[in-house]
Amino acid sequence: MPGSRRNFLRVAGSTAVILAVGATGFALTRNPNTARRPWTEAGTYPDPMRRALSWALLAPNPHNRQPWLVEIEGEDEALLLCQLDRRLPETDPSDRQITIGLGAFLELFRMAAAEEGFLARIDPFPDGEAGDRLDTRPIARIRLEPGGTPDPLFVHARDRHTNRTAYDTGRRVAESSLRAIGSATVSGVDSGFINDVDTVASLRDLCWQASEIEQRTPHTWQETVDLMRIGKAAINRNPDGIALPGAIPDLLRMTGVMTQETMSDPGSLAYQQSLDLVESWARTAMAFVWLRTDTNTRIDQINAGAAYLRAALTAAGEDVAIQPMSQALQEFPEMAGPYTEIHRRLAPEGGTVQMFARLGYSRGVPLAPRWGLETRLR
Ligand SMILES: Cc1cc2nc3c(=O)[nH]c(=O)nc-3n(C[C@H](O)[C@H](O)[C@H](O)COP(=O)(O)O)c2cc1C
Repeated sequence: MPGSRRNFLRVAGSTAVILAVGATGFALTRNPNTARRPWTEAGTYPDPMRRALSWALLAPNPHNRQPWLVEIEGEDEALLLCQLDRRLPETDPSDRQITIGLGAFLELFRMAAAEEGFLARIDPFPDGEAGDRLDTRPIARIRLEPGGTPDPLFVHARDRHTNRTAYDTGRRVAESSLRAIGSATVSGVDSGFINDVDTVASLRDLCWQASEIEQRTPHTWQETVDLMRIGKAAINRNPDGIALPGAIPDLLRMTGVMTQETMSDPGSLAYQQSLDLVESWARTAMAFVWLRTDTNTRIDQINAGAAYLRAALTAAGEDVAIQPMSQALQEFPEMAGPYTEIHRRLAPEGGTVQMFARLGYSRGVPLAPRWGLETRLR
């Protein structure tokens, strides 16, 4: 081989190695580790109340708003409140989903307490149930007493994640897993699963139609865009909302391709890619799990949160990916069509569909950020 060609190959080879190492190095520095600390801090606090609370804040909750605020009263009592400016008035005008998230928090609290030999007595809405919207009255009074029975699902508390990736369309969800996930509910909340190919196909269409409405309706889409945290610095600064971690979002943000402004512009590439991504979620649903209540009281919503947490922990234990697809259940006027349709299918005899989630198999996903416990105490 002529010397000049050999030299060229050597230089090109080393440049590629340097670029690859540089890119990998850059990628390795892009993890918002501070925002993920609560996942390792859970259970490490000196007293039982804070230990159980530090687990509870890992609960699933809509748009990761983490609306929980806790007033600790003495060693074994606390009040759970909703931080009202953490609600989602556009996509969740009745605070139904926010209340479900608070229900998931209470259920995880109860499990964490039981793990240490405490019975968590939970008295919901001690000053009366909220009406059309939540208000400043407490969501629950919590008291720790000796007792409690450890719950086998608690072991999955750190592995439960909302999986927003395309699922493997070559793999149907195992029937035994579906049965376990679809029956992990609590009293007062009906549940079930759907894996019949034709019904799944038509529900995929409904999910996609509803997702498109949510994104193409400016006031609901803007609520989501405002909560996007693009890249490491934004996530560490505000460890909540829709986190987009990793080297690619960081680079797209730095180059101006993906910013909150481009995300809200229907003519932008970022806006179109967001639609494509959401469509890939809907189209790769391999099964669905649903939760329904006969009435739609605040207590029903709290119970639905407990039921969803249990379904999601069960899914984690079965290595099944899960993602709520809540768009068709949202109560803003533009969603009326899909809302009626999903109720016609899943609640033909009446009642409210409280949760609807897709299932499948996929790779793991990064940990969603959380505000640390100290920031959630009042
Ligand atoms: C009532 C409720 C509705 C939700 N709706 C959606 C949804 O429509 N799409 C979605 O991707 N995640 C949805 N989620 C999941 C949350 O976004 C997720 O729990 C939150 O971002 C925290 O992430 P983690 O579950 O991985 O801890 C919902 C969760 C709850 C409790």
